[in-house]
Amino acid sequence: MKKVFAINLFILLLAAGGAVAQTKKAPVKKASTGAAGGASAAKPSVAKGKVVYTTYCLSCHQADGGGVPNMNPPLIKTSYVLGDKTRLINILLKGLNDEIEINGATYSNPMPAHDFLKDDDIANVLSFVRSSFGNKASPVTAAEVKKLRDAAK
Ligand code: HEC
Repeated sequence: MKKVFAINLFILLLAAGGAVAQTKKAPVKKASTGAAGGASAAKPSVAKGKVVYTTYCLSCHQADGGGVPNMNPPLIKTSYVLGDKTRLINILLKGLNDEIEINGATYSNPMPAHDFLKDDDIANVLSFVRSSFGNKASPVTAAEVKKLRDAAK
């Protein structure tokens, strides 16, 4: 298990190099937390979500959402991606450290929490994931993310 994690980390570092290069071309816009009701007023943006995905998720879950077998699970039509939004949002707010099985492969590496992302960024990236890679599910709003973040406080 240690070894798998080390390899995973290595891949992550390699990919992080790529992500840095990407970031220069397409910086993640700071979500406005200003007036106008802040995050909850904004409509989810799949285009912005793609930028967040490229920066924070791609290194593990890959550009096509296919993941890395037995290491990082795919995001293609999984029950986590298409199913209950509360569970999905909480994966980003709290991380995931379970042994899960997807398409016959087992995944037990922990996924770190991404609670440092703003409500908007989480809503956008999950809206992107739920409408990409062959997925077809409703968008996630910043208000839904905020509600769960507040509940966790
Ligand atoms: C360091 C690698 C890593 C990063 C970065 C990462 N994940 Fe994960 N992700 C994992 C692993 C490993 C699991 C499985 C965790 C487990 O088994 O408990 C997982 C599980 C998931 C799941 C539930 C299982 C599935 O495949 O449907 C979703 C959804 C998900 N990640 C989305 C994301 C999104 C969106 C991002 C970017 C904001 C992201 N992840 C960033 C490694 C990562």
